[in-house]
Amino acid sequence: MRAVIITDTSNRSVAIADVPDPVPGDDEILVDVKACGINFTDLLSLDGKYQNNPPPPFTPGKDSAGIVEAVGANVTGHKVGDRVIAHVIHGGMAEKAVCPAALAFPLPDGVDYDAAAAMGLAYLTAYLALTRRGGLQPGEVVQINGASGGVGLASVSLAKALGAKTVLAGLTTPSKGEAVMAAGADTVIDLTADDLKDNLRAQVMAVTDKHGIDLAFDLVGGEVFDATLRAIANEGRVVVSGFTSGTIPAVRTNYLLLKNISVVGSTVNYYIKDGSPLVGEAQAALYELLLAGKIDPNIMNRLKFDDYMDGITMLEERKIVGKSVLLMA
Ligand SMILES: NC(=O)c1ccc[n+]([C@@H]2O[C@H](COP(=O)([O-])OP(=O)(O)OC[C@H]3O[C@@H](n4cnc5c(N)ncnc54)[C@H](OP(=O)(O)O)[C@@H]3O)[C@@H](O)[C@H]2O)c1
Repeated sequence: MRAVIITDTSNRSVAIADVPDPVPGDDEILVDVKACGINFTDLLSLDGKYQNNPPPPFTPGKDSAGIVEAVGANVTGHKVGDRVIAHVIHGGMAEKAVCPAALAFPLPDGVDYDAAAAMGLAYLTAYLALTRRGGLQPGEVVQINGASGGVGLASVSLAKALGAKTVLAGLTTPSKGEAVMAAGADTVIDLTADDLKDNLRAQVMAVTDKHGIDLAFDLVGGEVFDATLRAIANEGRVVVSGFTSGTIPAVRTNYLLLKNISVVGSTVNYYIKDGSPLVGEAQAALYELLLAGKIDPNIMNRLKFDDYMDGITMLEERKIVGKSVLLMA
């Protein structure tokens, strides 16, 4: 089979190479991959900055959609020919991928492979962060920082679909405003404004009747996180899932007790590694929303397998709004 192989993370040595097909273990399935999402983690993987990869050589890719080709001896929940989304820790960017049976979920009729791959990690992250970790309630004001990216745009649509009254799209590239509004945002918050510390708060208060943010989902970190904390409403929550700015913020805890603010982390791998039933429940809920037309996979590019590096470059150059997917065939 052909697979993306990262051979050296010190100099970005990467190739699409012919390698032997992987063999599923007793509790695993082999998936004939049709599409795989490109995520920020794939960019981190290239530079050896993603904590869940083995040492090189390895195959990146976390969300592969395809057809079950073989099942291990102990597998009862899947059979050959089933259509699935496979949430692998790594190894998804290949013509065939091995996945623990507990981390593959059926694709309902009407959910195609590219939609399933595009939604993959991005929507799962958004769903678990907004619901399980963030406790989103209908009628709340929700702000998404990094709203134009894969996870961000998914979170905008999802927050609206789950009943948020107002969705504020925090943008580090304000020209992407049209796309986030089309995805369901009510207002754009400019995260590039001068004096962000005061300015972000002023922007938020102006569009929320001085209420502030009930739930902020932060993917950017750095000064964006700091400024967002100052715009949180009483008993508001902040969910942290990433640091695309490259700066991990330190929390001023005195600020938390002034308004009974909660700051929590959210990482999907925590649930994936443990084989938590929450992953399957999230997946089923997401497909229901998709089939009801309430959320969109947000696919910007469908790329050929050989164009993997173009997809990574577009992500790195911040030319993406939503998702790119690699199509294996
Ligand atoms: N915890 C988890 O379980 C989990 C799961 C998946 C992803 N994540 C994290 O979530 C974050 C977003 O992932 P993604 O796949 O949605 O990425 P993505 O599609 O590349 O989106 C990145 C977003 O961050 C913004 N951004 C701000 N400063 C940036 C910078 N210096 N470089 C690049 N982007 C910057 C981008 O805005 P512009 O429009 O300005 O480019 C864009 O909205 C990443 O930190 C990733 O590691 C966490």
